[in-house]
Amino acid sequence: MAAHKLLLLPGDGIGPEVMGEVRRLLAFIEQKGLLSFEIEEDLVGGAAYDVHKVAISDGAMAKAHAADAILFGAVGGPQWDGVPYDARPEAGLLRLRKELMLFANLRPAICYPALAASSSLKPELVEGLDIMIVRELTGGVYFGEPKTITDLGNGQKRAIDTQVYDTYEIDRIARVAFDLARVRRNRVTSAEKRNVMKSGLLWNEVVTATHKDGFEDVTLDHMLADALGMQLVRAPKQFDVIVTDNLFGDLLSDVASMLTGSLGMLPSASLGAEDPVTGKRAAMYEPVHGSAPDIAGKGVANPLAMLASVAMALKYSLGRPDLADTLDKAISEVLADGLRTGDIYTDGATRVGTAEMGQAVVAKFETLLAA
Ligand code: NAD
Ligand code: IPM
Ligand code: MN
Repeated sequence: MAAHKLLLLPGDGIGPEVMGEVRRLLAFIEQKGLLSFEIEEDLVGGAAYDVHKVAISDGAMAKAHAADAILFGAVGGPQWDGVPYDARPEAGLLRLRKELMLFANLRPAICYPALAASSSLKPELVEGLDIMIVRELTGGVYFGEPKTITDLGNGQKRAIDTQVYDTYEIDRIARVAFDLARVRRNRVTSAEKRNVMKSGLLWNEVVTATHKDGFEDVTLDHMLADALGMQLVRAPKQFDVIVTDNLFGDLLSDVASMLTGSLGMLPSASLGAEDPVTGKRAAMYEPVHGSAPDIAGKGVANPLAMLASVAMALKYSLGRPDLADTLDKAISEVLADGLRTGDIYTDGATRVGTAEMGQAVVAKFETLLAA
């Protein structure tokens, strides 16, 4: 069995804590002979800055380019607030996304039955929720130029960020959304603000044109992004696939996370284009949450978003959708057994830490594999 090349980038804060549970899971998968891995590790974020004075070194980038899949923890923290802007921890993540051309960010928001009571919404609004947010990840205001702060010399400064989208960028992310909808509930909602932004106007136009180019079997709706935010907390189950730009996707996925019980529950996959010859695509898997400085170092972080990100890697990069399903089921059953980290704790549940939760998932995964 050819070994899959994995790069582990634990990062900062709770990143290394949740990555510890990934190592446990990967070791189990190898020990069972299910897959074999060639695992590399490196620094990213503040941890990289402390050693190299950059948020990711060229050496780590080379490993990232060589990997079949990257597993990323989280970056950032108040201790790096004063570092130069280009070296801030988040810059490491942005460099990975841009240089590996990971334009398609899949953020599934699933409310596991056992967690309906942990959501901030009424259980009946979120029970059975299964949304896929498709966020454009390499364009928009995150990367548009100019991006500057200028001193106007009169005690005023001017900050400029630029939202830029080209037709091809919108077209390719729309195709990802339509393809995903076909294996789900066949519905795509596209979100922009065409009422105030030229990029919203183009977004709407291109998504409509791409839809006509062979995807008319999929139902397409357009919604203004602010209204979509409202609908997400009013009646979230109306959505199947949501496709939107980089910034709206960032905001809306954090909103969607609370429908599932916690930000600590949301995994993600960031994918590049498929190579037409080899069929390979660059891919990075990471939880949607950040480094959670408020709980870092205590061993209480929820590792489920990170472990569910490994499930996405099994499905999209490692050719084992069967193992991905089993791992997702293991997560669901551990929750059904009543195990909860602090972020999803409700009265009567069994409160566990990061390591106990990780252990329980691996044990359940083993039981399900044997069944
Ligand atoms: P955050 O996601 O780190 O935390 C928000 C809240 O959610 C906190 O109360 C935190 O304790 C809680 N939380 C998050 N993940 C959790 C988990 N797995 N288990 C339990 N609780 C969890 O967002 P923030 O506080 O706004 O940002 C902190 C830092 O993280 C910033 O530097 C930010 O830039 C960075 N960040 C990084 C990423 C990433 O690396 N992908 C994503 C978001 C934010
Ligand atoms: C995310 C994060 C990142 C983003 C930050 C850390 C750069 O919030 O992955 O959602 O804004 O994309
Ligand atoms: Mn975010």
